[in-house]
Amino acid sequence: MNRRPESSEYGSVDPAPASESSKLETLREILLDENQKMFQRMRSVFKLRNIRSTESCLVLCEAFDSQSALLRHELAYVLGQMQMDEAIPTLVRILSDSSEHVMVRHEAAEALGAIGNVEAIPVLKKYLNDEHIEVSESCEVALDLLDWVSNSSVPQ
Ligand SMILES: [Fe+2]
Repeated sequence: MNRRPESSEYGSVDPAPASESSKLETLREILLDENQKMFQRMRSVFKLRNIRSTESCLVLCEAFDSQSALLRHELAYVLGQMQMDEAIPTLVRILSDSSEHVMVRHEAAEALGAIGNVEAIPVLKKYLNDEHIEVSESCEVALDLLDWVSNSSVPQ
């Protein structure tokens, strides 16, 4: 039988399995090392996601300084999965940065929707008419998600 990659505790099949190390400093070093293979850097990303502490969230935010747009896109994706308010200021900064890669900004917008904090509504509205359709559509989806969540919470 073929062996297939396993799904994570988030239900997603990730592009790389989470690192075995749980040491924040080790994970951080690998993640920030531009000379490491992308596979290993992503293994750190998914481990930091699984740890899901304020500290691990902030290490992921720090990694937006990385040169790889692919990696930065992945960071925004996992910050959405983690649903931690601590990531909001960084995701707002990334969405608002017109020099950032469009797919990274798209993922930051979707992550702001996934986190589910209404604090993100003004910035999502601001970029609803962004010149890049990927960004504007993502803001629209995120706003609809926030709206849908707030309207589907059934009062006791
Ligand atoms: Fe995406």
